[in-house]
Amino acid sequence: MSHEPKHTTMLVHGSWRDTAPEEVDEVLCDPPYTEHVHEGHVLPVRDREAVPFDPAHPEDFLPELLGRARRWVVCFCAFEALGDYCRIAGDAWVRSGIWLKTNPAPQMSGDRPGTPGEAIAIMHNPGRKVWNGGGKVALWRHAPAHGAERCHPTPKPVSLMLDLVRDFTMPGELVWDPFAGGGTTGVACMKLGRRFLGHELEHEHAEVAARRLDRVQRTIDREAAAQQPFGEHPEEAAVLARLHRLLGRGLMPRDVARTLNRAGAVAPPRHGTTGRRSARWTRALVLKWTRVPG
Ligand SMILES: C[S@@+](CC[C@H](N)C(=O)[O-])C[C@H]1O[C@@H](n2cnc3c(N)ncnc32)[C@H](O)[C@@H]1O
Repeated sequence: MSHEPKHTTMLVHGSWRDTAPEEVDEVLCDPPYTEHVHEGHVLPVRDREAVPFDPAHPEDFLPELLGRARRWVVCFCAFEALGDYCRIAGDAWVRSGIWLKTNPAPQMSGDRPGTPGEAIAIMHNPGRKVWNGGGKVALWRHAPAHGAERCHPTPKPVSLMLDLVRDFTMPGELVWDPFAGGGTTGVACMKLGRRFLGHELEHEHAEVAARRLDRVQRTIDREAAAQQPFGEHPEEAAVLARLHRLLGRGLMPRDVARTLNRAGAVAPPRHGTTGRRSARWTRALVLKWTRVPG
């Protein structure tokens, strides 16, 4: 049985260690790391200053995550850390994946090749594996986050997270991101109809993520409302009554009445719905017609 959160999308401000769920379907996460994490867990002082948060070593969290996931555990990491993930995951290890950046930052020092992307450690608890990617290889090509997506010091692009959520999870499943940052995994889950549980330690990031998830929810609500058959909302029902009166008094030109009729606005829709396009259409027409004095 999956852990059932009260809400479809939930973001917790705090360490995941304090309120970890008992069981989730998948873990999709991006723990804080640098290319140096693998070097005996010790960062040179210069690099420590450049990292906006303490890097986490898979030793410290991976067994916990694997113990709580029913299916996939997918973690971004430095290429150099893949060996650690493979060793710690043991039988749960599946494959190394790559996020290949389509326009990576150049190597400013010019004295070595630049980093082409990031590694993805792909794991699954022993048992039958099912994913939605068919025979494709573990390579995802996406540009780094840009514009409004850069709401966190190290954000993942939404397009990449949409691909991963689509590939590794099923609609309705519960996806957990214990290192939620700016909430990108949550955004992808909401857009694709997956349930989401996120934890974020830092107040500032948690606030940003919460606002972002709220915005996505508002967009989803607006789109859902636009798909409702016209007239279900009480305000629309009042407008409809007014249109009926106009029609009854012969005050509406016949072609407009016909259009509204076809869209299901002035006659009950035949199969209980006016369809997406016609509902939007009807709204536009009705907006025009309610300005007519009646
Ligand atoms: C690499 S960032 C994730 C960025 C995210 N993928 C995005 O697109 O915005 C890692 C995040 O994990 C958070 N973090 C670190 N330790 C944590 C913990 N124990 N519990 C919850 N969040 C934690 C950090 O504050 C940081 O924001």
